[in-house]
Amino acid sequence: MANAYALGEAASRTTVQVDALFLFITLVSLFFFLLVEGLLIYFAIKYRRKKGAEPAATPDIRGNLLLESIWIVIPSLVVAAFFYYGYRVFRDIRTPSPGATDIHAVGRQWLFEFRYPDGRSSINELRVPAGRPVKLILTSDDVIHSFFVPDYRLKQDMVPGRYTTLYLHPDKAGTYPILCAEYCGVSHSTMRAELIVMEPDAYAAWREKKEAPAGLSLAERGKALAEKSGCLGCHALEGKEKIGPNFGKVFGRKVLLADGTSMTADEEYLRESILDPKAKVVKGYPATMPTFKGSLSPEDVGAIIAYLTSLSGGGREEKGEKEKREGAPANKDGEAEAVRKGKTLAETYGCLGCHSADGSVRVGPSFQGLFGRQVELESGGKATADEAYLRESINQPRAKVVKGFPNVMPEFKGKISEEDLSAVIAYLKTLKR
Ligand code: CUA
Repeated sequence: MANAYALGEAASRTTVQVDALFLFITLVSLFFFLLVEGLLIYFAIKYRRKKGAEPAATPDIRGNLLLESIWIVIPSLVVAAFFYYGYRVFRDIRTPSPGATDIHAVGRQWLFEFRYPDGRSSINELRVPAGRPVKLILTSDDVIHSFFVPDYRLKQDMVPGRYTTLYLHPDKAGTYPILCAEYCGVSHSTMRAELIVMEPDAYAAWREKKEAPAGLSLAERGKALAEKSGCLGCHALEGKEKIGPNFGKVFGRKVLLADGTSMTADEEYLRESILDPKAKVVKGYPATMPTFKGSLSPEDVGAIIAYLTSLSGGGREEKGEKEKREGAPANKDGEAEAVRKGKTLAETYGCLGCHSADGSVRVGPSFQGLFGRQVELESGGKATADEAYLRESINQPRAKVVKGFPNVMPEFKGKISEEDLSAVIAYLKTLKR
């Protein structure tokens, strides 16, 4: 983001134009600032009241046509010059450049997709040859984004349901950041891309070359793709979740879907979720993911799945285990399944909004160490928080309120199935102190 007038060659001619305009405005403003402040200080000293001096009569000045004309005409000319110069630069930047290559750019929560005239497409990476103008046709699939190339001093909104255009003049080879400059949701700050300007022959060579850089395993390629495609903006690998489910250990796991059914996140599920994310949304997550159909090739999708599989420790053994389990439903696995489901349910139903799982007190008693504990009741008396008590307290929370806590929990009777209820209780049982 270097200043063109401060540091050698500029990234683009628009950089020079915009910087020169800003420099002009800054210098003229600085001149008048110094003039006004200088006179102010000079007059304050020159016409100060001197010690022991007689108060002099204020001179009676009625006007000065010449002076007034000067201070009206000169600032008007200055402002008109600002306007005219700014208009010239604006006009130059907006004027279609003959011979420009059309590239479509689509903004989506939270990535940029580029489509080239020859049918290729890329995510968060715009490659162009140096020395040839580019016409970007911008639009958005969801909300307003803003396409901003700081090094080119160019910015243009991407508006849903409308095309806007922007001409780039990539004069100098190099890699320049592209940012989204319009707040567009939680991951706005991660919505970034790169403008890669290549020397014409390097660009031609890159265009000829088929994908799949040598020396990378499929999973490594998938990792690079997942980073490049903006997946990691919404999916954390592990730890605190972002917008979507974490990538760590997703493969081979049972997932609970928004429609209440559940399924195993196998290859086919992952493939579908990348190409048609709204088909099977995991419960508790917003259905905001854009489709990658057409922007990721089948090989790319395969590589990403290989990467996700590798994150789950190969996943192969797990799959073997699952097959074993399907042969003879072992109780232990069923139990673990219920606990996992219960945890997901506790999150989806919002239980964890009021009950912590780590012993801290929110609105209600913490889930940690709750099971099997003696609790004092608001009505006097005591109860053991066993399975029957938990069941009753979920169905009809008002029946036995723990002393010292507000009687605000809603009833879940009729809203939670028997199976889900058991799963939640199975989960609570695991939260030992
Ligand atoms: Cu897209 Cu901010």
